[in-house]
Amino acid sequence: MDRIGPDGSVLGLDFSESMLLRACQAGSQLGRGNVLFFRGDAENLPLEDESIDAALVNGIFNLNPARAAIFPELARVVRPGGAVYVAEIIVRQPLPPEVRSSEVDWFA
Ligand SMILES: C[S@@+](CC[C@H](N)C(=O)[O-])C[C@H]1O[C@@H](n2cnc3c(N)ncnc32)[C@H](O)[C@@H]1O
Repeated sequence: MDRIGPDGSVLGLDFSESMLLRACQAGSQLGRGNVLFFRGDAENLPLEDESIDAALVNGIFNLNPARAAIFPELARVVRPGGAVYVAEIIVRQPLPPEVRSSEVDWFA
């Protein structure tokens, strides 16, 4: 999918400087001029109402105590008939303590 933003841009948002840096590097490697990244909170998106066609959300709900605030924000910014795609890890059984205590495995 190429057109996500209101002007054909693909917008990326994260509250982490290191993830934004990584995303910018990957974006410039692609050589696309329509990819923009913003620092911000998913609970308070810096976007107009009904201003985007689709949102792709990867891995921000599981660890976020304010997750309930993100759903209405997504509903606010995605235009009617648009789409929200969410990727999350769902654990079907308790994880061993060594996995639970390792940050490395949180994002495996
Ligand atoms: C699993 S990583 C996904 C990173 C990248 N978007 C990707 O798809 O590869 C989840 C990202 O969500 C960011 N994040 C978590 N909660 C957030 C929030 N409330 N607002 C903005 N970013 C958040 C984290 O900083 C982290 O970089």
